[in-house]
Amino acid sequence: MRKDTILIIGANGQLGSVLTEKLQTIFGYDHVISSDIRQPAEEKSIFEYLDILDKKRLEAVVEKYQVTQIYHLAAILSASGEKNPLKTWDINMQGLLNVLELARVKKLSKVYFPSSIAVFGLETPRINTPQHTVLAPTTVYGMSKVAGENWCQYYCKRYGMDIRSLRYPGVIGYQSLPGGGTTDYAVDIFHKAILKESFVCFLEAETKLPMIYMDDVIRGTIELMDAPSSDISIRTSYNLSGVSFSPKEITEAIQKYIPSFKTSYSPDFRQAIAESWPDSIDDSQAKKDWGWKTMYDLEGMTEDMLFQLGKKYKPVLA
Ligand code: SER
Repeated sequence: MRKDTILIIGANGQLGSVLTEKLQTIFGYDHVISSDIRQPAEEKSIFEYLDILDKKRLEAVVEKYQVTQIYHLAAILSASGEKNPLKTWDINMQGLLNVLELARVKKLSKVYFPSSIAVFGLETPRINTPQHTVLAPTTVYGMSKVAGENWCQYYCKRYGMDIRSLRYPGVIGYQSLPGGGTTDYAVDIFHKAILKESFVCFLEAETKLPMIYMDDVIRGTIELMDAPSSDISIRTSYNLSGVSFSPKEITEAIQKYIPSFKTSYSPDFRQAIAESWPDSIDDSQAKKDWGWKTMYDLEGMTEDMLFQLGKKYKPVLA
């Protein structure tokens, strides 16, 4: 086991809950502290209540456990963010600045900050979006991620800190549910399919978006954080690619296993957000710098999702 002690902020979210368990296997149970403004459903880790806007409490938690690394996952996502733009800006930006400042003062060894495909906008090339391109997002969530990426790079360059980041596509996993994002439909659709319900999609049939399977994204995050610092050439945030598909394509992939499954379409305000994001992402820099490789394609992801959710819902379906 390694000597670091990790604080995960936003640990009860879609990604945090899975990342917490993974980090426990690497650093040991006592060295992974999870925190959130929501209590965990089951206490599977050491947990501290933490509102990221409360600087004093953040400092107290870091001191209590002698934290050496922070994974700062707490944020309001794209769709929820549009309902309260100023609050979203405050939580996403001030939250990050609180973390960066404390990490600087306490000389933490590493910080992880997730960025997103939401940094891209209508002027960005849609197909195979390059690492370095126009970043003019349409959502306040995207704006906060662009600014956040730049703050991370600023702290790295100005103070010599080690901060790392990935631009996550929509994350798909059976372990947890997303909340408030535009890509959330791609998790929900599997739950409906397994429960033998039909699915009403809030995006149009042909709207393609970059997505990634949970196993890939967790592995990618750990690989990035494990890479030698000298290999990390991008200090804003790395493009990361998984698999791109439309609601129609994922429906067809599910129908190979559940032929009776049906999707209908009722696009809402999230359609415009989706249309401002790319179809597919060029992640060659991540491949080159730290050996990133996607493992799951649409077929593999669909098979595993249906298998795992089938197990999960077995008592309900029996
Ligand atoms: N999954 C996020 C969202 O839809 C994108 O990072 O908001």
